[in-house]
Amino acid sequence: MSLAKLVMAKLLSVFLFMEVIASGFRFGVDGLRMDYYIMTCPFGEQIVKNAVDRALDDDPTLAAALVRMHFHDCFIEDNKAEKDSPGNLSLRGYEVIDDAKNQLEEQCPGVVSCADIIAMAARDAIFWAGGPIYDIPKGRKDGRRSKIEDTINLPFPTFNASELIRAFGQRGFTAQEMVVLSGAHTIGVARCSSFKSRLTGVDPTLDSDFAKTLSKTCSAGDNAEQPFDATRNDFDNLYFNALIRKAGVLFSDQTLLTNAKTRAAVNGYAMNQAMFFLDFQQAMVKMGMVDVKEGGKGEVRHNCRKIN
Ligand code: HEM
Ligand SMILES: *[C@@H]1O[C@H](CO)[C@@H](O)[C@H](O)[C@H]1NC(C)=O
Ligand SMILES: *[C@@H]1O[C@H](CO)[C@@H](O)[C@H](O)[C@H]1NC(C)=O
Repeated sequence: MSLAKLVMAKLLSVFLFMEVIASGFRFGVDGLRMDYYIMTCPFGEQIVKNAVDRALDDDPTLAAALVRMHFHDCFIEDNKAEKDSPGNLSLRGYEVIDDAKNQLEEQCPGVVSCADIIAMAARDAIFWAGGPIYDIPKGRKDGRRSKIEDTINLPFPTFNASELIRAFGQRGFTAQEMVVLSGAHTIGVARCSSFKSRLTGVDPTLDSDFAKTLSKTCSAGDNAEQPFDATRNDFDNLYFNALIRKAGVLFSDQTLLTNAKTRAAVNGYAMNQAMFFLDFQQAMVKMGMVDVKEGGKGEVRHNCRKIN
């Protein structure tokens, strides 16, 4: 990392820290702190980072899996770090969390929550893929219940922009924050089953050549994978540029360009990657605060795959 980037990262983390303090009460998570584990598990962050780096050096596609896992962990209510729900289909990469957790349990048993591990792993994966580096407040607890039906809380890929704005609005996000978070689709893939409904009939928001690309992917079956943009393992702003070319993969991606309330943000991030990175990291810190459990409201799991 260049010195300039390091200095920038430090300045940003100070700035974000102040913002988190300012917004802590609003989110009811004033117990979270950047240095939460400094006394109880000082090498905790490094252990997670090493586990993530090692796994991604082996398989770069796991970066997307880790980022998506954090999103689901935040949006599925009372289902923190939950694995045994229908959404577990998307929980590729969980062995990275297990690996980090095993090492943490050796160093500082019962201290670092799975929700924090997932948040840190997503953060480290984004940086590994070339995205921004940022500090996150820690001290989340893990849920004590497993509510399988709760995956219903996730937004669907068939949602239009107004529905996405409403779904994220219910969690306290602005339309612009919803757009910037969707930018996580700069890494990873969607399977045919998530977008094939777009391929019947003529969709004026879908480029006709790109429609052929999607159809070709789907000719290999429902599980065939379509990268969201041309660089599936690189965290960049090509996702937003793809939307401008009407080459968004999911309906819920392309609708962001169609809607007047979200179009300006898409255009802005397509033009300015630095602005995308800055807004993205702030929105990710905020996402990491959604429905956070603290203190007695949760536990620290010994095994991330099941409640104690
Ligand atoms: C705006 C609403 C969103 C919808 C409707 C949505 C929906 C989806 C769908 C359907 C897939 C493909 C799943 C599959 O076919 O297997 C996907 C993948 C993904 N999503 Fe989202 N998502 C949304 C927001 C987010 C957010 C906020 C993040 C993270 C901050 C995120 C991160 C990812 C990543 C990284 C992948 C790729 C996973 C992989 O390649 O393994 N998504 N999303
Ligand atoms: C998802 O959950 C089902 C049922 O609990 C289980 O059989 C399956 O192995 C899980 N899938 C993954 C990828 O862990
Ligand atoms: C978005 O979806 C909702 C619910 O299906 C629908 O009522 C609304 O008309 C849609 N908006 C647009 C702009 O298509």
